[in-house]
Amino acid sequence: MVTRCVCFGQRFTALKKIARKNGARTFEELQRYVEFGHNCQRCRPYVNKMLATGETVFEVMKPDQAAEWEKPG
Ligand code: FES
Repeated sequence: MVTRCVCFGQRFTALKKIARKNGARTFEELQRYVEFGHNCQRCRPYVNKMLATGETVFEVMKPDQAAEWEKPG
C-alpha cells in the first residue's frame, strides 16, 4: 500500500490534515505549507487523488492510472 511521500517521510494522513486546515486544493498549494514531493514525484498522483477523494491509503497505481492522476487539477 502507498501511504506517504517516501522521500520526505510525510504520511498522506498528515498531508490531508494540513490541506484541510489551510484550504490547499492542489499539490503545489499544499507544498506551500509542508515539505514533500520535491524529489522523485512518485507521490504526485497519490496526493492528487487524496486531495480529490480524501483517501489516504492506496493500492499501487498502474502506469495509466498514475498518468491520469498526475495531471494538475
Ligand atoms: S515520494 Fe514524494 S517526492 Fe518522492
